[in-house]
Amino acid sequence: MKHTITLIPGDGIGPEVASNVVRIIEAAGVDVTWETHYAGAQALEKFGTTMPEELLASITRNKVALKGPVTTPVGKGFASVNVGLRKTLDLYANLRPVRALPNVPCRYPELDLVIVRENTESLYAGLEHVVVPGVVESIKIITEKASTRIAKFAFEYSRREGRKRVTAAHKANIMKLSDGLFLECFRNVAKDYPEIVADDRIIDNACMQLVMRPEQFDVMLLENLYGDIVSDLCAGLVGGLGLVPAANIGEIGSVFEAVHGSAPDIAGQGIANPTALLQSGILMLRYLGEREAADKIESSMLQVFEEGNVRTRDIGGTAKTAEFADAIISKMK
Ligand code: NAI
Repeated sequence: MKHTITLIPGDGIGPEVASNVVRIIEAAGVDVTWETHYAGAQALEKFGTTMPEELLASITRNKVALKGPVTTPVGKGFASVNVGLRKTLDLYANLRPVRALPNVPCRYPELDLVIVRENTESLYAGLEHVVVPGVVESIKIITEKASTRIAKFAFEYSRREGRKRVTAAHKANIMKLSDGLFLECFRNVAKDYPEIVADDRIIDNACMQLVMRPEQFDVMLLENLYGDIVSDLCAGLVGGLGLVPAANIGEIGSVFEAVHGSAPDIAGQGIANPTALLQSGILMLRYLGEREAADKIESSMLQVFEEGNVRTRDIGGTAKTAEFADAIISKMK
């Protein structure tokens, strides 16, 4: 199979991690033509916008992008590239598999769960206004269409990946109409997937349970705001944002990204950990139907973690980004 993929290396540590992930994917034998594009502060400098038209056209054409971290310039008028891409390309499903890695210190070394977050509405619709001075209204949008679409996504994903349970987390006891609709859509969709257990938790209880007994969850389904918070909470359970992958999936295109930032404190030193972007790359390969290459990269990466000799600085080692990538590539030979 031949693929053309939009590559957004990003800035800061972005190009350092992206170039090494590209090397690993190519070493696994995947035939890719990369279309490289700027976004964020770099694009603003060159094109006067953080999200150039050419970039959007490239993702729309190729249907898939791999994205490193992007600095969003501080100041008024510069929309976050991440939010912008989600809106423009209608990337409605945010998928975050959360799994501990061997030899990486964390609270739950056995944890293996998946967060599915609705990516387009809730309080992130950005509908806020001042009612009178001192009183602000922020509107939470929940629609039957988006709630049904994301519930279907969660169950379809679970069926495909052999997951056994989907748990919706909500606050329908208080927000009876909005979260109530989200929950109702979840329950309706669940009827079409009788082999998968469908249950629900109130979000505050779900958070406590996640910290105390996270192994009871398999796939979790949340609206946008809860999903944003809970997915970072879960990353913290397995060692932090530098390790976990993320995908934003839509019908026009899908963007696989590192969720950590551009790490200006270590940029340019070649010491960043490329694991988060690499794991997003593995997700991307599975999405593209390159299961064999994805499995090969994943098992080589896990072996390197298991042996524990080549580790980047953030997880207690001394290896450079490129040395870690070389170790994975040598396992694939
Ligand atoms: P950050 O994630 O860049 O850094 C937080 C800490 O984690 C730093 O000490 C950094 O060295 C470390 N770190 C992050 N990724 C690492 C990696 N792969 N390997 C080793 N260490 C790593 O968060 P911060 O400092 O809040 O944001 C910096 C910039 O990144 C900001 O301009 C922000 O707008 C942008 N950002 C972009 C994101 C994206 O494009 N998805 C997400 C979050 C922030």
